[in-house]
Amino acid sequence: MDNNDLENKTFSASLQRSREIEQDITKNPSNYRVLTGDRPTGPLHIGHLFGSLQNRVKFQNSGIETFIVIADYQVLTDRESAGDIAKNVKELVIDYLASGIDPDNQKTSIFPHSQVPELNQLLVPFLFLVGNSELDRNPTVKEEITAAGLKNISAGMYVYPVHQAADILSVKGNLVPVGKDQLPHLELCRLIARRFNKRFGNDKVIFKEPEALLSSSPNILGLDGAQKMSKSRNNAIFLSATADETAKLIKKAKTDSIKTIYFDPKDRTEVSNLLHIVSLATGEAVESVAERIGDEGSARLKQILTESLNEYLAPIRKRRKELQEDEQYIRDVLSRGIQRARAEAVKTLSEVRQAMSMEF
Ligand code: TRP
Repeated sequence: MDNNDLENKTFSASLQRSREIEQDITKNPSNYRVLTGDRPTGPLHIGHLFGSLQNRVKFQNSGIETFIVIADYQVLTDRESAGDIAKNVKELVIDYLASGIDPDNQKTSIFPHSQVPELNQLLVPFLFLVGNSELDRNPTVKEEITAAGLKNISAGMYVYPVHQAADILSVKGNLVPVGKDQLPHLELCRLIARRFNKRFGNDKVIFKEPEALLSSSPNILGLDGAQKMSKSRNNAIFLSATADETAKLIKKAKTDSIKTIYFDPKDRTEVSNLLHIVSLATGEAVESVAERIGDEGSARLKQILTESLNEYLAPIRKRRKELQEDEQYIRDVLSRGIQRARAEAVKTLSEVRQAMSMEF
């Protein structure tokens, strides 16, 4: 078995485990505490909406306590300045709330990790539980270094996966909805939990090993149809875009020269991706959308996509506008989130100090 086989095998095992957990969630929601998060690097797009935000809303509505960490320190891993971080954090919160995440239900807490000192303090003991060579091997970190073309790599870049373990374990999250690229980080988090218990736990389980939850919805591609939708690839439709901007972007989306529209994600990636987005917005099956369009070709496909996506996004965009005017509410959401996360992190740090005999 070569490395790729191993990776695929691990991935399909994780996928299978994720489906099992999803079944169990509906039966025993109170056994779970979700911790998930994003780097506040810019506005969210429909890839985020259909890929992860809707899932978070689903968890929330099935009664699971959810912590959403805004990983503001982590922004510095691949750039020297965090940019207008205050604005980005605010916009991120607005994107969350407009998409249906609702901190007023007492179940969801949104917090920037820089505001929780006890979480950050956990990084120190955790750093003694991982080897330099382990950090060096992390495939996601390596990819990010290459993608950003970094010449000087900060220690922060190497250790951010350990910091991420502190995000998760400080609030004792046991379920982490993530994309495939985050699996190495979650493996490391599990390792840290295990090693902490072994080294300092005295037979007590201080940290349970959290599990990854991989989404079952396939990634949507950007409007170039070539790669994942992302801000840096200039192929995204942002939640904050207007209906007109959305129409213009879709007009320029790449298609192919075959007139009849049918769904074939292998050989007709671009067209199939557009069909997929229509399907996500309307709930109609991709094949049925394609059949409806038939010989009317990609112009008609784009027209249908524009209409259905704009209709789907209209209430989200309306709510975005309202929230934009309500700075006090956004501040309030964050301060409640920070308070809640801190209460958990304080308890966790105290347990950690006790286990390490570092209470004086
Ligand atoms: N690294 C994640 C990303 O880039 C963001 C993140 C930070 C995160 N802390 C986390 C995700 C904890 C899950 C759990 O998307």
